[in-house]
Amino acid sequence: MNSSATDLLNWYDTHKRTLPWRAGNGITPDPYRVWLSEIMLQQTTVATVKSYFEKFTTLWPTVQALASAPQELILKEWAGLGYYARARNLHKCAGVVMNQYGGNFPDTEAELKKLPGIGDYTAAAIAAIAFNERAAVVDGNIERIISRTHYIETLLPKAKKEIREAVAQITPAERPGDFAQAMMDLGSSICSPKNPECLLCPWQTRCQAQKAGDMERFPVKPPKKVKPIRRAISFWLEHDRHVLLERRPDSGLLGGMPGFFSTPWVERSEIPSLIESEGFQPYPAKWLVGNKLATHTFTHFHLETALAISQTGSKINVESGFWHPIAQLDEIGLPTVFKKIAKLYKC
Ligand code: ADE
Repeated sequence: MNSSATDLLNWYDTHKRTLPWRAGNGITPDPYRVWLSEIMLQQTTVATVKSYFEKFTTLWPTVQALASAPQELILKEWAGLGYYARARNLHKCAGVVMNQYGGNFPDTEAELKKLPGIGDYTAAAIAAIAFNERAAVVDGNIERIISRTHYIETLLPKAKKEIREAVAQITPAERPGDFAQAMMDLGSSICSPKNPECLLCPWQTRCQAQKAGDMERFPVKPPKKVKPIRRAISFWLEHDRHVLLERRPDSGLLGGMPGFFSTPWVERSEIPSLIESEGFQPYPAKWLVGNKLATHTFTHFHLETALAISQTGSKINVESGFWHPIAQLDEIGLPTVFKKIAKLYKC
């Protein structure tokens, strides 16, 4: 084994985090648990994922159980984790593993990549962690570490190829999964974006950015794009302690999730007026618009929305709409943005 890998694995053996999806010493982890955790961790922090992981593995301890669950229930339990396409692909992937792979995850990076929701990073991570394949695992933390140790000044994303090659070169044939997870742990603790604690780092003496004293310059990224602000009015229509919700179409942002009817989320300088909102109201009613706004940030834009409130005399039928008891709004699995909007009702 190369000495970089030995140094890092020695550090990992004493400093690794205890995480619910990690198996104990010498035990190969369950591919289902590795896959589930890696999908959850794609765009979400370890701290947030832990409780969701416990909940999912309690409800659905095997890929077979998950494949048999209704998609709506999976989306409900996913609520709050964001990037809901992940949950839809999770269910699809469980189905494919059951129907096309006899209930066993394929055990190579190349084959894993063919499954729904599994891209380059996730395929490499599962292959290394669950199947001991010498796959080069590269996530955002690992990009930061390697661009520092190797002093890679190429801008991201162009630098990805160079980084991947460097990772491939130092990944050992023995314990490749631990090696990947050791880098993840190093990136989440010592090799942080700001004020890295180089004195504690097992790679201190090999790190070229540390030698030059300009660790924080890496990875080199193009300037951040300013996110546009989209503005809308959401509609709270009430009857007999029930509120009208919509089930969003399966494709697109927050696909398949419940939420409030609203004007389209478009970039504009003001919240639309009630008159402008007319074609988008779920029902023609006398609306009262509150002056507080809910704000939420998505990957590509900020959203600001006001809440218009009205009542109906009956539970009128609205296409893709359904009535839900207000007292049980917390239990339906609203995405965070809609939870914030619901709070405006109490303001
Ligand atoms: N981030 C993504 N995958 C991870 C893992 N297996 N352990 C810790 N952090 C991670």
